[in-house]
Amino acid sequence: MPLKFTPLQPQQPSFAAQASGIDLRKPLDAGTVVEIDAAMDKYAVLVFRDQPFDQGEQIAFSKQFGPLDAGLRKATGAATRFQHEELIDIGNVALDGSIAAPDNKKLIGVLANQLWHSDSTFQDIPVKYSMLSAVVVTEVGGETQWADLRAAWDALPPQTQQEIGGLSAWHSAFHSRMWLGDDKYSDEQLSRFPPVERSLVHVHPGSGRKVLFPSVHCTHVSGMSVPQGRLLVAELIEHATQAQFVYTHHWRAGDYVMWDNRSTLHRGKRYDLSARRDLRRTTTLERSSDQAVA
Ligand SMILES: [Fe+2]
Repeated sequence: MPLKFTPLQPQQPSFAAQASGIDLRKPLDAGTVVEIDAAMDKYAVLVFRDQPFDQGEQIAFSKQFGPLDAGLRKATGAATRFQHEELIDIGNVALDGSIAAPDNKKLIGVLANQLWHSDSTFQDIPVKYSMLSAVVVTEVGGETQWADLRAAWDALPPQTQQEIGGLSAWHSAFHSRMWLGDDKYSDEQLSRFPPVERSLVHVHPGSGRKVLFPSVHCTHVSGMSVPQGRLLVAELIEHATQAQFVYTHHWRAGDYVMWDNRSTLHRGKRYDLSARRDLRRTTTLERSSDQAVA
């Protein structure tokens, strides 16, 4: 069966497609990698069903799309229950395999994921794709939503496009966590991720489309007072996450979703933290040939 991509929502023919006709656990030939890259440039989010990866298989699949990043654990130094540094634990399973207790520090990451963001925009080497493998899902809640930041840019009034076209914002790894009240980080931890300045609008290198790029990781906007900048970012996130730009994924065990962080925002939806949820993320770094243009 040939690899096929079908948009998941008729009203968004260029955003979020289901991919079928492929077993991701088998090594891809070069042509298939190119085909998936082209589909990512077009749709930004790809959903694959029935791909029950083990840890090693997910790492092997992900590496075909670039070098992998270990995420915020580079700063927090938190222990992992996985065999691979580059598998990022998205869920509420503690190191010993039990469901994390309410006071478990890892839950702050679960909660921070419920705010609209693109992964790791706070580090100087930007990331490209993230991928989530669903191992155990909750019956209720825990959906993931993605917003199309290309369509969000296209829909802005020309005057707003002109106003923000040359602006840049500072991204910090700890901003969303501090906003949630988690502010006990050492100077050493903070120094591992100094804030990074990024354009509020960039051109996606694969599609050539302009992208509006706000995030909960933004602390302030260059050339604006802190409150003015934060209100502008909040307004832009509110704009970009209107229903017509959003795809909501209802997880099934075995689902595998890939997305392009350079053209989307995402967030997890709230769920009962006493119910087991085990999702595993891998994230590729941008290569110099992939870099977005400011
Ligand atoms: Fe994320």
